[in-house]
Amino acid sequence: MELALYCPLCGYYEKKEDTPGQRGDFYTSVSVGPLFGELLAFQFAEWMVECGVRSAECGAADPLRLIEAGAHDGQLARDILNWLRVRRPELFERIEYCIVEPSPTRQLWQRETLTPFSDRVRWFETPRSALRTPYFTVVFSNELLDAFPVHRLGWDAKAKSWFEWGVTLDRERFVWVRLPPPAPSAILHLPSSHELLAVLPDNFTTEICPAAENWWRDAANSLPCGKLLTFDYGLSAEEFFSPQRTNGTLRAYRRHQLADDLLAAPGEHDLTAHVNFTAIQRTGEAAGLKTGSFTSQAQFLTGIAEKIWKPQSDFGEWSPEHTRQFQTLTHPQHLGRAFRVLVQSR
Ligand SMILES: C[S@@+](CC[C@H](N)C(=O)[O-])C[C@H]1O[C@@H](n2cnc3c(N)ncnc32)[C@H](O)[C@@H]1O
Repeated sequence: MELALYCPLCGYYEKKEDTPGQRGDFYTSVSVGPLFGELLAFQFAEWMVECGVRSAECGAADPLRLIEAGAHDGQLARDILNWLRVRRPELFERIEYCIVEPSPTRQLWQRETLTPFSDRVRWFETPRSALRTPYFTVVFSNELLDAFPVHRLGWDAKAKSWFEWGVTLDRERFVWVRLPPPAPSAILHLPSSHELLAVLPDNFTTEICPAAENWWRDAANSLPCGKLLTFDYGLSAEEFFSPQRTNGTLRAYRRHQLADDLLAAPGEHDLTAHVNFTAIQRTGEAAGLKTGSFTSQAQFLTGIAEKIWKPQSDFGEWSPEHTRQFQTLTHPQHLGRAFRVLVQSR
């Protein structure tokens, strides 16, 4: 999965800039239009002002830092910075916008999109390297954790043990193959309750994603003061390991269609697995963060919009186009229910 998505020569995310959106393979909240970024900018500005008021450590002239990871072509960064420049010029002057981006190819796409903000944006390879100085910071991502490579595990009901699904070559095709049981440290993430294991069907398949947990742990441990949040397709652990979900959550998408065979065209289609939000939430809490909220995207964005719709709000004009985008972002059958938002803070 790592090679299929990120190999510098043939990885899916290295080759194609226009993968999200109508002409691409899948929609994201960013490809719906600028409203998603504008709503986030409004909320981030409110958090930054609140922090300045509340915390004696946050000097009125200190920089304020926004860190985005998984910025892809830089569109979300542009939407956020455009809104801040026009609506909150006093905060905009203090903002350092950092992008965490390990891929040189994607950095190039982002630099091009963000040319109008070239004096304000800096690039880093990891959250830790972006967080070296102790300013108030908001670290955020949209569909980052569901794009990390997963381990795919199966349940052998007869032997009452887990095994790992590997991939091998059979003549000209990639096929699944059963590997020996995974290391005990990997099974720590799987359900261990006897009642649940007793009802899991043979070959019940699920995923674990240590890469997502490691990323979150690194960001959480490095966050001096501020918020860590993510928008992703995901489930709680209880939903994730439900016995009815026999085939896990790993999926392949191409031109907005679900592919039948996950292995058919590596590098040509997106591969994505739902986030186990319980595991991510616990990882942040173990690093000392407090969980502020875990909601659907619809609830989170409606909470922001309710502040914007108040008569004294200075968000700017709310046009019929804003309403159209808002409906797509929050409608349960579009992006409103399947996307969840976890917000933690220090
Ligand atoms: C599904 S896309 C989402 C793109 C964008 N955030 C949006 O909403 O349109 C996932 C992105 O995360 C990037 N990514 C994967 N691993 C990453 C990492 N360790 N650090 C930063 N970005 C990463 C991928 O290359 C890809 O651009």
